[in-house]
Amino acid sequence: MRFQFAEPFRIKMVEIVKKTTKEERIKYLREAQYNAFRLKAEDCYIDCITDSGTSAMSSNQWSALMLGDESYAGSKSFYKMEASAQDVFGMPYIQPTHQGRAADYIMAKIYVREGKFAIGNMHFDTFRGQAEVLGALVVDYVIDEGLDAASPPLPFKGNMDLTKMQRLIDEKGAENISVCILTVTCNNNGGQPVSMKNIRDVSILCNTYKIPFVIDSARLAENAYFIKTREEGYADKSIKEITREMFSYCETATMSSKKDGLVNIGGLFVTRNHDVFLQANVLGIVHEGYLTYGGQAGRDMEALAVGLQEATDFDYLDYRVKQVEYLGRRLKERGIPIIEPTGGHGVYVDGRRFFPQIPQCEFPSQRLVVAMFEEAGIRCVELGACAFGSKDKITGEPIWPELETMRIAISRRVYTNLHMDCIVEALAYIYENRASYSGLKLVYEGPITSLRHFTAGFELL
Ligand code: F0G
Repeated sequence: MRFQFAEPFRIKMVEIVKKTTKEERIKYLREAQYNAFRLKAEDCYIDCITDSGTSAMSSNQWSALMLGDESYAGSKSFYKMEASAQDVFGMPYIQPTHQGRAADYIMAKIYVREGKFAIGNMHFDTFRGQAEVLGALVVDYVIDEGLDAASPPLPFKGNMDLTKMQRLIDEKGAENISVCILTVTCNNNGGQPVSMKNIRDVSILCNTYKIPFVIDSARLAENAYFIKTREEGYADKSIKEITREMFSYCETATMSSKKDGLVNIGGLFVTRNHDVFLQANVLGIVHEGYLTYGGQAGRDMEALAVGLQEATDFDYLDYRVKQVEYLGRRLKERGIPIIEPTGGHGVYVDGRRFFPQIPQCEFPSQRLVVAMFEEAGIRCVELGACAFGSKDKITGEPIWPELETMRIAISRRVYTNLHMDCIVEALAYIYENRASYSGLKLVYEGPITSLRHFTAGFELL
């Protein structure tokens, strides 16, 4: 018998959600100046603004919390978490931080040099921001298909373009490149994975030119799942064999535990280089807390020790990725343009193809975010003209990004496929009426363009 399994868990506790009327939602949107970050979470029927810190913890994680040892130094909880992280990363030195961006900060302070390049497939905002503040020249060298939301499906659209990397090395000299970072999976272009071959090739190139190679591993388990299911030679390997091989090629990794750690808060700085670890220790003590807690409570580390193991379980990952795939497939059936194939943590709708009449300067993907909340109380997030837009440093003229998307981020173990169906119906309704929409005007953007999406204000045009 071919048997289709459902979710690999039973729901033991629930959070009651509020339903609102369209009139109420229109009022909330007006009060929030049409910025989804400024809405209240309790007013969202389905909250897809992020997959970060929103996982449902398991009963094993909740019971582990009770074992939390809150000692300042050398707590039992730290050693459990350290062993669990060493098991997944295959690296010796583990330092906790309060969340991923704190580990990014430590990484930037250690690896970034003023006036030198930091190469990435696509840098996540927090590392990019910190590297730029430190005076680095930050460049994204993902393959071209990864920058085109309408490109045909490819298994690894998060891959680094080695030709672009080599060209920069030839033109500027390897001594002017201070670090190379792969983000796995690549959050900015659809949660797209990076293949093992690409990780290996990037590491070979970096070794040849003595460029430190590091990995941003917030979604390490989802990346490993794609390697197992899409890359030749990995079908019979376990997820942890794959994660350990991924990290065997790099010197250092950072992790936001709020994603594939299956916890609500926390981060990690992980390295195999003892000198780097000693530098990270100093920064950690000053900014995060002593080395065996780094901004986390003992109970947080207990939950993470269990979460890392659950997140690298194949049955869990299979359910997780297939739920996202289900949403993508159903949206496609309704003609809705998305990045294909779907990635690990969400579906990314192509704002350009969805609202072709709305130019980028009128924020088509943000308009879709507003429509989703207005029609259905579903909160998504714009990753397009507002979040990725920048300005020419000399003329101040706006520079519009290549990718123009709305991300529907799916929290781990939180929503059922009926919720996915609900998202599909809402988007399909808006898509049927797409010609009736016009764009938005940005009326407030705060002092730093690269962070404007968090506080921006809009008006309906
Ligand atoms: N790196 C990546 C790839 C991320 O996606 C994030 C966070 C971070 C680092 C920073 O981690 O939030 O724990 O400080 N991404 C969230 C998101 C915010 O919605 O994608 P953090």
